[in-house]
Amino acid sequence: MSKWVRAHTNIALIKYWGKEDEEFIIPKNNSLSLTLDAFYTDTRVTFDSSLKEDQLILDGEEQDASALKKVSTILDIVRNKAELTDYALVESINYVPTAAGLASSASGLAALAGAANEASELNLSAQELSRLARRGSGSASRSIYGGFVEWEKGINDETSFAHPIDNANWDIGMLFIIVKQAKKEVSSRDGMQRTVTTSPFYAGWLSTLDQDLTDMKLSIAEQNIDKVGAIAERNALKMHATTLGAQPPFTYWTADSMIAMDAVRKLRKENYSVYFTMDAGPNVKVICKQSEMDKIKKALLAYFDEEQIISAKPGPGIQVLENR
Ligand code: PMV
Repeated sequence: MSKWVRAHTNIALIKYWGKEDEEFIIPKNNSLSLTLDAFYTDTRVTFDSSLKEDQLILDGEEQDASALKKVSTILDIVRNKAELTDYALVESINYVPTAAGLASSASGLAALAGAANEASELNLSAQELSRLARRGSGSASRSIYGGFVEWEKGINDETSFAHPIDNANWDIGMLFIIVKQAKKEVSSRDGMQRTVTTSPFYAGWLSTLDQDLTDMKLSIAEQNIDKVGAIAERNALKMHATTLGAQPPFTYWTADSMIAMDAVRKLRKENYSVYFTMDAGPNVKVICKQSEMDKIKKALLAYFDEEQIISAKPGPGIQVLENR
């Protein structure tokens, strides 16, 4: 039956950066993320025999073929499994503060996997949903679960999926610093492919990941925000370093990203437990204690406007919305 499904976005503390298999989206390394409450997507899928092709309505607007591509990949897998032939109407609403530039493929494709599961009545397990979401966008595999989540790289479609490792029910949160976009960004897909194939630093990145992952899991178990933050920060810096060695070289950082990173370092000198991470774009995410978030947000107002800073707490896994 057609039902609305909600999935929240996640931010990686140990990044996924590079694919072993492009078609099945099998990553080069395990990654680990925190699901957050502030940004989410609601999606409903309706299979309809009168449709001539899949249709995606995002925030009330019909999307073109390029936006439909990842969506149809997931729908095709579901149609195949459920032996359905109808095209589908996909209605999706992104709950992301306006102009945040945070259109999230993680929450979007996880919600789609969940909604396609409801509409097809396939009754997929969470693990199967994670594998399905992964086919649309790697990071979406992690948004099936709440709290801290690890995506096991696996070796093929059956073995590459995420699992929850800690409900994050402790003093940790994240502030998003939304910086102004100066130039068009390189998509995560193109960016990681270019670094894997051309950057001499990519091998260095891969060689330290096991250690980062082991350290991160221990630090989460200890609920040690300073260790979690420091490992996430060093991991993100290494990921971003690989892009500078790519051919042609590129970076996701803008001058404002640097100002944000610097502000975080300054606050750390003032004894706040505060660290940063960044993804395939210029925005900076600040890892800190939930209990210090208000004070840190205030301090960041010296550099950024109020509407550029958004607070987030750990968020839940995927939910079917019975009464929407
Ligand atoms: O899932 P994708 O294809 O949007 O790739 C995500 C890549 C990073 O955000 C940079 C890292 C991550 O693990 O989320």
